[in-house]
Amino acid sequence: MTTCARWCVVGWLVANAAMAAGPSKGVPAGPGDDCRACHADAWAKKQVIHPPVKNGLCFGCHVSTSDTKHTFDLAADGKFLCAQCHSTRDSLKVLHPPVSEGLCLECHDPHASDHHARLRQPVFETCTRCHPSKRTQNETSATKHGALDPKQNPKVCVSCHDAHQSDHEKRLHDWPPEKVCVTCHDKPQQAPDKELMNLKAWLDQHDAGTMRHGPVREGRCPDCHEPHGTSESRMLKGSYPAAPYTPFSAAVEDYGLCFRCHDTRLVQEKVLGEKPVSNADPATDLAWSGGDGGVRLIRGGITGFRNGDENLHFRHVNKADKGRTCRFCHDVHASENPKHIRTTTFFGNWEFLLNYKKTTTGGSCWPGCHAERRYDRNQRQENLK
Ligand code: HEC
Ligand code: HEC
Ligand code: HEC
Ligand code: HEC
Ligand code: HEC
Ligand code: HEC
Ligand code: HEC
Ligand code: HEC
Ligand code: HEC
Ligand code: HEC
Repeated sequence: MTTCARWCVVGWLVANAAMAAGPSKGVPAGPGDDCRACHADAWAKKQVIHPPVKNGLCFGCHVSTSDTKHTFDLAADGKFLCAQCHSTRDSLKVLHPPVSEGLCLECHDPHASDHHARLRQPVFETCTRCHPSKRTQNETSATKHGALDPKQNPKVCVSCHDAHQSDHEKRLHDWPPEKVCVTCHDKPQQAPDKELMNLKAWLDQHDAGTMRHGPVREGRCPDCHEPHGTSESRMLKGSYPAAPYTPFSAAVEDYGLCFRCHDTRLVQEKVLGEKPVSNADPATDLAWSGGDGGVRLIRGGITGFRNGDENLHFRHVNKADKGRTCRFCHDVHASENPKHIRTTTFFGNWEFLLNYKKTTTGGSCWPGCHAERRYDRNQRQENLK
């Protein structure tokens, strides 16, 4: 990174000098009078011209070093040159090294450019020059995030990150990350395959304390989504089948996302001998420190979704041909029902009520696709075929 920083600035100075290509008139014997008479051509046609340049305040930055020769020094070095008129942006909690070290000219042209904020290159190029992995992530992503597409969002990286400094982790504009996400996901967005739901509206409908899934409750969208892209659908940070049904092979291979935080026995063990758990109280039973991946959730019995000792998660999900994915029953963001069970589910394009009811030792559902089925952890229930 440091190497890049040094080399690129040298590259630019060379490129810039070549671009300036020298004014048509001769060099004055001294500083000269109207600087713009000879130099303005170099930036006259650019879209973003720095006001002091436009106004001929060249001496704000250039100091003549001779009365007889046309030579100049800069008025100050690094950030101090800019600090004559701008703040140095190195006072908040999370700094950006190229900014706090005063390399303002790494990104900005002092005179003029054709890019937003007078950057030397468009934002995406400015940032990915030093953070090339973000370019690679975006290019190789299974679903490319509209937020990173300059055509959909000209501010790309700086719509979430502050270029200079902020008070939040990763220099995000706001915290928790959800607040950044809903600046755009407060309306339906168009993905290549479908129109995406308005996530902010959905969250607003669901009380944070009782209805939102742990990491969502804490506003930690990046616990599951990698906003720069991944090889999984919906930029998920672990495997999660995109199709409604999927042949089951192994918990972590198929549902790596969920099993970053949950216990794989949930779908691996057909019969559960351990004492079943009663309804877990998230506040006390589910100790969770947030996002670093360890298995620490469901204790002593793994899942309450069982009939007697038969694990019904196993039965629904763990099938060689058409295993049901979690989305048939759960809404991963929030739902008004216990255990984040969805209100409606779907079969092809057909959407219908699940009619889930919870009891202290089990529950029941009555979806459009079959008769009412009941399960009970203490007393196995017999259901009609
Ligand atoms: C009569 C035309 C003319 C005027 C007026 C003029 N310049 Fe120049 N200036 C030039 C030329 C030609 C060069 C290119 C010299 C070279 O290529 O070596 C130059 C080079 C420069 C350089 C780069 C050289 C260095 O030492 O950094 C700066 C900076 C500069 N001018 C600033 C100014 C400022 C500030 C003014 C106004 C006070 C000004 N010029 C007025 C013609 C002019
Ligand atoms: C905000 C500070 C600032 C102002 C105002 C400014 N310059 Fe510069 N100028 C610089 C810096 C810094 C460089 C060194 C090259 C670089 O980093 O691009 C430079 C380089 C130059 C050069 C060398 C060739 C080039 O383009 O890099 C010329 C010529 C020049 N300035 C002329 C002017 C003239 C004429 C004005 C007024 C119309 C002016 N500058 C106003 C900061 C400034
Ligand atoms: C002589 C005073 C002066 C100096 C020195 C100065 N600026 Fe500016 N700059 C301004 C003014 C005035 C504006 C327009 C008002 C504003 O946006 O704050 C501006 C605007 C900007 C903008 C917004 C985009 C634009 O062109 O309107 C950027 C980016 C910027 N300056 C960067 C720099 C950098 C980097 C330096 C140091 C190389 C610097 N400035 C030095 C006066 C200055
Ligand atoms: C890593 C690249 C980078 C560096 C280094 C950098 N900037 Fe910026 N700057 C940006 C980007 C990108 C924007 C546009 C921000 C936006 O639109 O949210 C910007 C915007 C600005 C603006 C106009 C908007 C505002 O925030 O006021 C000013 C002024 C500015 N920068 C000054 C500076 C100064 C002074 C320095 C050095 C202390 C500096 N920049 C260093 C990338 C950089
Ligand atoms: C000149 C090189 C350079 C440029 C250009 C640059 N960065 Fe950085 N950036 C760094 C360095 C060095 C660090 C600190 C080392 C690290 O954490 O990777 C850093 C850190 C970061 C971090 C925090 C990383 C963390 O783990 O906390 C973010 C976010 C970031 N940059 C975003 C951006 C964005 C957005 C842009 C474009 C506006 C940009 N960078 C342009 C060099 C650069
Ligand atoms: C939609 C919002 C968003 C956009 C757009 C975005 N980022 Fe990020 N970025 C984040 C979040 C959130 C994190 C923290 C990720 C985490 O905790 O897993 C992050 C983290 C980072 C980091 C720290 C290293 C890492 O991967 O955790 C860097 C560097 C970074 N981003 C650079 C960029 C660059 C460069 C761009 C533009 C090409 C960009 N970001 C665009 C939201 C965004
Ligand atoms: C600057 C606007 C913007 C911000 C901020 C933003 N997004 Fe997006 N997002 C979009 C757009 C536009 C789409 C639809 C295009 C697409 O498919 O990516 C989208 C799509 C998505 C998708 C579906 C991707 C797909 O194609 O399947 C997910 C998941 C997503 N965003 C999550 C997030 C998260 C998490 C955050 C916060 C870290 C966030 N977004 C912040 C604009 C944004
Ligand atoms: C526990 C993991 C997890 C968390 C935390 C999470 N998501 Fe998701 N998100 C998913 C999964 C899994 C999907 C795919 C759902 C599906 O296709 O059935 C998804 C889908 C999406 C979609 C596409 C929705 C659609 O209409 O298909 C968006 C947009 C999105 N998430 C944004 C967010 C935002 C914003 C946050 C933070 C408030 C967030 N997510 C938090 C797991 C998560
Ligand atoms: C980043 C960690 C994390 C990931 C990833 C995660 N969860 Fe969770 N999950 C939690 C936490 C924390 C709780 C307990 C708090 C709560 O939601 O009530 C929980 C609880 C649950 C509950 C039960 C809630 C209750 O009332 O007992 C369900 C159902 C659930 N998660 C489903 C999923 C599914 C499906 C996935 C994969 C798409 C998933 N989780 C991925 C952290 C995670
Ligand atoms: C056929 C519907 C269905 C499917 C498919 C399903 N679940 Fe569940 N899940 C439930 C029900 C019902 C409960 C509530 C059990 C209780 O407490 O009575 C539950 C509870 C949970 C819980 C809370 C702890 C527990 O097990 O009691 C987690 C975590 C969970 N499911 C994760 C998942 C994951 C991960 C997937 C996908 C691999 C998945 N579920 C697929 C119906 C389903």
